[in-house]
Amino acid sequence: MQTIAICNQKGGVGKTTTAIHLAAGAAEAGRRVLLVDLDPQANATSGLGLEIVQGKSLYPVLIGNSRALDMLQPSRQENLQILSSEMDLAGAEMELATLENPLLRVRDALAPLRHDPAFDLVILDCPPSVGLLMTSALIAADKILVPVQCEYFALEGVGKILSLIERIKQGDHNPSLSVLGIVLTMYDTRTRLSQQVSQDLRTHLGEQVFRTIIPRSVRLAEAPSHGQTIYEYDNSGAAAASYRQLTTELLSRLGFASPP
Ligand SMILES: Nc1ncnc2c1ncn2[C@@H]1O[C@H](COP(=O)(O)OP(=O)(O)OP(=O)(O)O)[C@@H](O)[C@H]1O
Ligand SMILES: [Mg+2]
Repeated sequence: MQTIAICNQKGGVGKTTTAIHLAAGAAEAGRRVLLVDLDPQANATSGLGLEIVQGKSLYPVLIGNSRALDMLQPSRQENLQILSSEMDLAGAEMELATLENPLLRVRDALAPLRHDPAFDLVILDCPPSVGLLMTSALIAADKILVPVQCEYFALEGVGKILSLIERIKQGDHNPSLSVLGIVLTMYDTRTRLSQQVSQDLRTHLGEQVFRTIIPRSVRLAEAPSHGQTIYEYDNSGAAAASYRQLTTELLSRLGFASPP
């Protein structure tokens, strides 16, 4: 089992959209996937059309009242389960700070799943801003995937998250953490800016940048308001095709090259 955190301290860059569609895409490709919603906004939970149920989430697991395995919810899709978020997670950052080993609680909560043959892949949707929940995700993950919006200042934002990852690696808790790759999102083919940003990122980061680029798509922005993935909402469109292609690239980078 491998744990991938979808992370960028910048808000609104496509983290949740990418987490949902890689999770659903990998499940569609036959991998058994758990999506963990670490963001108190609960966008991944509601984007998949799931109810936010107080007390049935990551929150009681983090404060030590429940086991992760007892809190999982099925999605409509085969092979895809979710450990959802809820509002209380917003208070968890302060509450956790008063408990023992707050930074290790996400890792410890997910530890029983590591050796559970029921899962091939755990995907963590991180909140924006560097706080306890995001840092805990970086400590719990094997690899990080960084979505980057094709806009001015993108390179600076990537620099910040890469140096944060480097700091975690140099600390005691997760020295084997690595960057799986950078994904360009919301690419607008009509603007020179998108082309320029994509070129700059490839020049500076080379092979770390995934070949697949996610286009800006109105359908993709609409899908979560219907509680549907793009594979359900507009399966034949360009956005669904690009997230499927990104899933294939992800699985290949993870060493899951051939179908199960
Ligand atoms: N490729 C895209 N084309 C058009 N809209 C998109 C695309 N990707 C995401 N969006 C929309 O942009 C907004 C931000 O995306 P998303 O919620 O995935 O970002 P995020 O990084 O998770 O945000 P936050 O930092 O608030 O958690 C959402 O309304 C989403 O539906
Ligand atoms: Mg989000």
